[in-house]
Amino acid sequence: MSIKIQPEAIASLRGFEMPERLGFGTVMAPVMFRARYQDGRWSDGELIPYGPLALDPAAKVLHYAQSCFEGLKAYRCGSGVGLFRPERNAARMAHSAQRLCMPPVPETLFMDAVRVVVAHCAGLVPGNSGESLYIRPFLMGTQPDLSVTASRAYEFYVIASPSEAYHPGNMRLWVEREDSRAAVGGTGDAKVGGNYAASLLSISQLKARGYDQSLWLNPGNRRTVDELSGMNFFAVMDGALHTPALNGSILEGVTRESLLTLARDLGIEVHEREIDIDDLLKLVASGTCSEAFACGTAAIVSPISELGDSEQRYRLAQAPGPVATQLRQALLDIQEGRAEDRFGWMQMVQVARF
Ligand SMILES: Cc1ncc(COP(=O)(O)O)c(C=O)c1O
Repeated sequence: MSIKIQPEAIASLRGFEMPERLGFGTVMAPVMFRARYQDGRWSDGELIPYGPLALDPAAKVLHYAQSCFEGLKAYRCGSGVGLFRPERNAARMAHSAQRLCMPPVPETLFMDAVRVVVAHCAGLVPGNSGESLYIRPFLMGTQPDLSVTASRAYEFYVIASPSEAYHPGNMRLWVEREDSRAAVGGTGDAKVGGNYAASLLSISQLKARGYDQSLWLNPGNRRTVDELSGMNFFAVMDGALHTPALNGSILEGVTRESLLTLARDLGIEVHEREIDIDDLLKLVASGTCSEAFACGTAAIVSPISELGDSEQRYRLAQAPGPVATQLRQALLDIQEGRAEDRFGWMQMVQVARF
């Protein structure tokens, strides 16, 4: 597909000044990608200045949440800029779109869109370890029509945000025994906005109790651990790494799969299985579970220092523990070009000159 680079987009890039403090996802790159879908086909793409969208108030996305998104990062990798396993994000976005009856963004369109944004924003990729250009592709149904049917018109955007790591410190998790973030047979394994909306009440309540994130249980059995609102969960027991097996209500994280591969490669025993929450809490109390951490593109690897359940607090013996520290470093070393990319995970981006 051809991508039109609007002259106004180049002007926005030339006029952009990077603020000193970045935070996560608050500073926006001054350009974005857009492609439209109508009558069964995608338009050519455009790189345009970042700015508000014009949406009809009856657009399906605003009423029936027909939208999905992705999150990936471009890293300063050696002397260039690299993307980490972007084809997995393309595949996951296609899966999410299909779950919501939306046309999947073809992999070539997804990749071209991400690449053109990164190529033009290469100068905005921050250089400190753990920092990156966070990339947010999203797709939404725009047809103005209040009937509960799938939209026939869609828009696909890619925006980007130069960012620090999300949740760099130790986290305190609250075991959420009342609410669920996703339903059995629902959208838990899709990256759709409704899952995140459903998690917000729990997060706001646990913040008042001094916790950082909810630990979600499986919505079917309310007994086994699923994940966090935006990260997958790992625990270390007797030196072995355990993570909940994919079950349809857990989002299949790119970081999760990468850490499993790295752990096996480092000779760490790995188990993907059901983790009963009451067993886990007992193992934390006895010290058999010595460390736990969450992982995700935004968070990288974030140690968990405490699990809270009703009035009980269960402290992890090591936060950060050696396994989390070793895996975080091994992952960042590949992403930031200090270690050989033995698994072929990095895709370098040709930087645009303007
Ligand atoms: C619910 C949920 N689980 C897990 C993850 C981690 O996925 P990834 O490693 O692909 O970022 C995310 C982040 O995208 C998420 O939103």
